[in-house]
Amino acid sequence: MANDNSSSESPRQKRITVPQFSALKKSAQKITMITAYDYPMASLVDEAGVEGVLVGDTLAMVVQGHENTLPATLDEIIYHAEIVGRAVNHALVVVDMPFLSYQVGKQKAIENAGRILKETRCQAVKLEGGVDQAETIQALVTAGIPVMAHCGLGPQSVHQLGGYRVQRDENALLQDARAAAEAGAFSVVLECVPSTMAQRITEHVDIPTIGIGAGPDCDGQVLVLHDMLGLTCGYVPRFVKAYADLRTEITGAVSKFRDEVRDGQFPGPEHGYE
Ligand code: KIV
Repeated sequence: MANDNSSSESPRQKRITVPQFSALKKSAQKITMITAYDYPMASLVDEAGVEGVLVGDTLAMVVQGHENTLPATLDEIIYHAEIVGRAVNHALVVVDMPFLSYQVGKQKAIENAGRILKETRCQAVKLEGGVDQAETIQALVTAGIPVMAHCGLGPQSVHQLGGYRVQRDENALLQDARAAAEAGAFSVVLECVPSTMAQRITEHVDIPTIGIGAGPDCDGQVLVLHDMLGLTCGYVPRFVKAYADLRTEITGAVSKFRDEVRDGQFPGPEHGYE
C-alpha cells in the first residue's frame, strides 16, 4: 500500500530498497556489504553506513563454530535474521537460504524464502547458483521474493568441489551470472573468482556484482564481519583484510578483569552501593 505520509514512516521504511540497491550499479560509488548475526553488531554495522547487511549462513562457522556452512538450519537463520531485521534501519537486509532449503525444488524454495520474509522483516534472500538455480530464482521473483544470487565458489558445495577453491572457468562463471540476472536476481555475489574475470562479468551483467575474493572491479564488496574484525579463530582466507584485532582486544580486557578481581582492584568503592 502506498504511504504518502512520510512523518508516520517507521525507521525501517527508510531502509535502502531492492530497486535502490540495484540502481547503485550506475552510481560512481562502490557498494559495501557486511554480514551480521546479532542485534549489537547489526546496529553498529548499520550505523557505519554500509548499503547492505547479510545474515549469512557463515553463521554456522563464525557464530556456531562448525567447520563449514552446511549445518545452518532454516529455523536458526530465521532466528538470527529476525534479530538483525529489528536492528537495521538504513541498509538493505539480505538473508542466506541455508543448504537444502532451496535445492529441493521450487515449491519448497518459495515456502522457505517466504518464511524468511514473513518472519524476519528482512527484504531479500540469497542463494548459491546460476544456471542450475535459474528456474528457482525465477519462481521466487515471480512470487515477489527478491533474490541475490551467489556465483563462483559456492561454499554449500564444498564437498563436491573438494575444498574452497578459486573458480576459473570464465565461460561457466559468465553464464551463471547472466542466467541469474535473466531469471530476475537483483544482484550477484561473486566469490573466489580471478579479478580479471570478475571485471568482465561486471561489465556484462546489468545487476550489481558484489565481490568477495573477486578483485577491485566488482560493483561492490562483501566481507564476513568476524573475519574483518579479527575475531575469527583458525583459517582466514587470503581475500580477507582484518580492519581490527578484536580477539586481542577482548582477551586483553577479560584478562585484565581477571587480574583486577584477583588483586582486589575490582570492584572499587565507586562500583558498590551504600
Ligand atoms: O554466508 C556468507 O557470509 C556469505 C558471504 C561469504 C558472502 O555468503
